[in-house]
Amino acid sequence: MKNDFLLQMSDIQNTTPEYMETLFTLSNGHMGLRGSDLIQDIHKTGNPGTFVNGFYEKKPIIYGEWAYGYAENHQTIIKLPDIRGIILTVNGHRSDEEEWMIKKDTFMLNMAKGLIEESYQIQTINGESFRFSAESFTSFEHSEIYTSKYTISDSNFSGEIVIEKDLSVNKKSDHHSEVDDPRVASMKSDLTVEKYDERLEQLKTHKSQQSILFGQVNLVNGKANYKSLILDIKKNEKMTGYNFVIVSEILKQTKDRPAINELNRLINDLEYELLLKKQEEYFNEFWAVSDIELSGQDKLQKGIRFNLFQLFQNAGRNSTTNFAAKGLTGEGYEGHYFWDTEMYILPFFIYTQPDIAKSLLTYRSYVLPQAKKRAEKLHQKGALFAWRTIDGDEASAYYPAGTAQVHINADISHAFQLYERVTGDHQFMKETGAEVVFETARFWLSFGHFGNKEGQRQFCIDGVTGPDEYTALVNNNYYTNKMAQSNLSYAVELAGQYPEMITEFENSQWQDAARNMYLPYDEKKQIIKQDDSFLDKEVWPFEETPKENYPLLLHYHPMIIYKYQVSKQADGLLAPLLFPNDYDKEQIIRDYNYYEGVTTHDSSLSRSVFSILASRTGQKKKAYNYFMDTALMDIVDLQGNAKDGVHAANMGGSWLSLIYGFAGLSYQGSDLIIENNLPDEISNLAFTLNLRGNLIKIYLDNCKVRGKIIQKGKFIQLEELDNQLIVRFNK
Ligand code: BGC
Repeated sequence: MKNDFLLQMSDIQNTTPEYMETLFTLSNGHMGLRGSDLIQDIHKTGNPGTFVNGFYEKKPIIYGEWAYGYAENHQTIIKLPDIRGIILTVNGHRSDEEEWMIKKDTFMLNMAKGLIEESYQIQTINGESFRFSAESFTSFEHSEIYTSKYTISDSNFSGEIVIEKDLSVNKKSDHHSEVDDPRVASMKSDLTVEKYDERLEQLKTHKSQQSILFGQVNLVNGKANYKSLILDIKKNEKMTGYNFVIVSEILKQTKDRPAINELNRLINDLEYELLLKKQEEYFNEFWAVSDIELSGQDKLQKGIRFNLFQLFQNAGRNSTTNFAAKGLTGEGYEGHYFWDTEMYILPFFIYTQPDIAKSLLTYRSYVLPQAKKRAEKLHQKGALFAWRTIDGDEASAYYPAGTAQVHINADISHAFQLYERVTGDHQFMKETGAEVVFETARFWLSFGHFGNKEGQRQFCIDGVTGPDEYTALVNNNYYTNKMAQSNLSYAVELAGQYPEMITEFENSQWQDAARNMYLPYDEKKQIIKQDDSFLDKEVWPFEETPKENYPLLLHYHPMIIYKYQVSKQADGLLAPLLFPNDYDKEQIIRDYNYYEGVTTHDSSLSRSVFSILASRTGQKKKAYNYFMDTALMDIVDLQGNAKDGVHAANMGGSWLSLIYGFAGLSYQGSDLIIENNLPDEISNLAFTLNLRGNLIKIYLDNCKVRGKIIQKGKFIQLEELDNQLIVRFNK
């Protein structure tokens, strides 16, 4: 069992350096460093680097043809030097200049403790040999610290070993890769470097006007050295040294005194063993509330833990940063935050670690001023959140698959609503969430309009793009309208509690629009219409499309893709997923069968949705197959681009597939229901939910569902039926 917490090279698809680096990333939500080669040799390979959540540079987007209101700037997360890699010098000879024998004996990600443990047998060109072991982690106790303990043993010589890290910035390797893939960044971001003190440099961006302090401290026998770690080796004796890389929080001003004083205190008191102890405590606590245990195919348990681990370690925790589409594991999608957070990642945090959920949601309130400005720029009321962003401004240069995805507004409102429902934290809604919900509701009223649809006055939302990025700029995307309706209804509900924040007139408008929202439906086929025109188009010629032409976005002009009925990802099906009580089973099956036939799953956000709905409609085999693709996506490199970073939304999707799908979590009125939909291949599933401060451990096996309260919070009651568990809340 213990082994299921260790990710090793034998567990993953291949050993190409870039791919391995992504999978073995260590992060703590503030900084993430790719798991590159530890000891730098003469063969420099891979794409190592370090990312700081929210530390980015801007540059104007150059449009061939500009139009009013287009996003103005690219925002690209900065790639800092690799803070993991070391150069060894033995008696004056360097590992990166001569052909040494470096044999990797152990290399693993210990997910139970949040560490990388590794060990090498080394022989220099002169015949000096020794064992080199390292244990490293990004600290959760002090997120500005990445630390390593290096141990040398079994040496056949006495002499000096110097361990160095090259932390100089603006090297060629700090530039983002130049590739022909729109999903990857390409930007050269030079930083201004100023010496701050003997340990730290201040790195400043130009246009985004941010800065951080960056440097290192090495400790041997309690003595500090800021340049390198020097070990005096005695033949056959063991020797240990410590390295601490400091990456400060992003400073609000260059001379942010309180932050700098605090950092100084931290640097003066660095103690490896203490940080390690705290790290273990953090991870013990994390697994105690978030682990999922399940039986099933080889690697599945480990694959699920890997996903949970990545979710935990990549979430921004300071309310001014969020969760990038690739976490801090790679440069894909430029470190941007998308709807991925609210719709795929947040449910996991809301149900297991509400504090992290709260800070991710607070980020949206932090960037609300930018969202209001954006709505104003587009001559709309309320707020329109950016489709992709770091600092809150829109950074999508291709608006048909960017800004036009206005559903992000309702996605954000939906996540606040789920948070309130699950945690019962009304105070947060009062102080932070309500305003976001009201401002997004205001947007719908000004952006949409009442029109005549099928002989009735209905609320329409035209000229938008839904989640399916292979269909753009359509009228009445089903998902968008359904979510906007929910956004408006929630606004009305909150308005009842905080009437002073809105006007009477707004309230009645919102009610009217929600009640009369147009939801396109095809009477003949008896299915949801993805949008007004989707079903009128010709179906994509799937039969004639060679396998290697997927993902379509890399092989066909958007104009060709948009002409056809073809979905990059689940779109219309998201509505029955999120509002299960509004659709009967037969309806969901008809929708499922139809849309499955026209979906390519070119987006990693797709399969989990298909798995969940298959679970809920009794299609167990399908549910399992889609789930397995989801659960092991990056470990088997299913999408083929894990080298650019993990697919974080899909990792959240694997949690959803288990909890919303196999465990059928849903609501009936205010009761939470767990239902047993386990597929034949999985005979046991156990997980924990945090419901209003109650920790409930839930067990499913082939014939029953059981629940146990392991920590008591606000009053709830559990009722166990044959294949169901009902959680009742006290109002
Ligand atoms: C998907 C989007 C998603 C983005 C970032 C795209 O491929 O179509 O839905 O938000 O990736 O993960």
